[in-house]
Amino acid sequence: MTEIDKTNRKGIVLAGGSGTRLHPLTVSVSKQLLPVYDKPMIYYPISNLMLAGINEVLIITAPDQEHLFRNLLGDGTQLGMQFDYAVQEKPEGVPEAFVIGADFIGDDPVTLILGDNIFYGQGLVQQLRHAVRSDRGATIFAYIVSDPQRYGVVTFDDTGKPVEIAEKPKRPRSDYAVTGLYFFDNDVVEIAQSLKPSKRGETEIIDVVRAYMTRGDLSVERMGRGIAWLDVGTHQALAEAAAYVQAVDHRQGFKIACIEEIAWRQQWIDDAQLKSLSAHYGNSPYGEYLAGLLESRL
Ligand code: G1P
Repeated sequence: MTEIDKTNRKGIVLAGGSGTRLHPLTVSVSKQLLPVYDKPMIYYPISNLMLAGINEVLIITAPDQEHLFRNLLGDGTQLGMQFDYAVQEKPEGVPEAFVIGADFIGDDPVTLILGDNIFYGQGLVQQLRHAVRSDRGATIFAYIVSDPQRYGVVTFDDTGKPVEIAEKPKRPRSDYAVTGLYFFDNDVVEIAQSLKPSKRGETEIIDVVRAYMTRGDLSVERMGRGIAWLDVGTHQALAEAAAYVQAVDHRQGFKIACIEEIAWRQQWIDDAQLKSLSAHYGNSPYGEYLAGLLESRL
């Protein structure tokens, strides 16, 4: 990794919700703070925004959880970043992130990542950088899954153009799920503000994406087999994600989603700051890993 220009594009991590599908794990703590092997879940989506060059991030939490996220992540200056916080009173749909975040977004384009989505692998950084360069329209990512009915599903025509998009269809017309990572231009704020709730009583992100598709402004990037996309919404998925991260960590000695390492490699922080972050984590293997980076310089 080399020095990465920071972009004016804003980032949002949506980490609200009540996480009822993970009870009792999530009775007193948000899903996005649960461990995925050696670090809290929210490190993973934050790392993806960082790899795209985004350094101003709004973290949207459930009302009683904001202080826990603040304790963990602070104001972001330790990473050469800026973290802001806002609360989603009730889970009323993903697009609400743009309504809550309207002032934060200002006149800039914005990237939203759902707080329980994990992306890792070959070619990911190039795809993120490509998406970040476009200031017009929307870019979403499609990924082949064996259970598309659990997701937003996108269908392509023979030329590869997206022609249909549906939220959790009973009979999916393709195996391409829409991942929880969305790049939008600034129009998204207005689009989100004008949405009506769907039958399940929430506004739907798929309706935002469809608005861009209808006006011919949607680009759908397919994520290939070299990329792992994990959506950590069930006990099983949580255990599988931890096993995956552990396997890579143990086999290669590289950490996935180590936000301190990414900030350092992108030259958002210097050696002295990395050293102080390593000290902050004490004698944990995570802290030792950060100290080791300064010695090995791989
Ligand atoms: C949301 C979106 C869905 C998308 C999924 C990705 O669903 O509504 O279109 O495919 O995230 O994780 P949820 O996980 O909130 O059911």
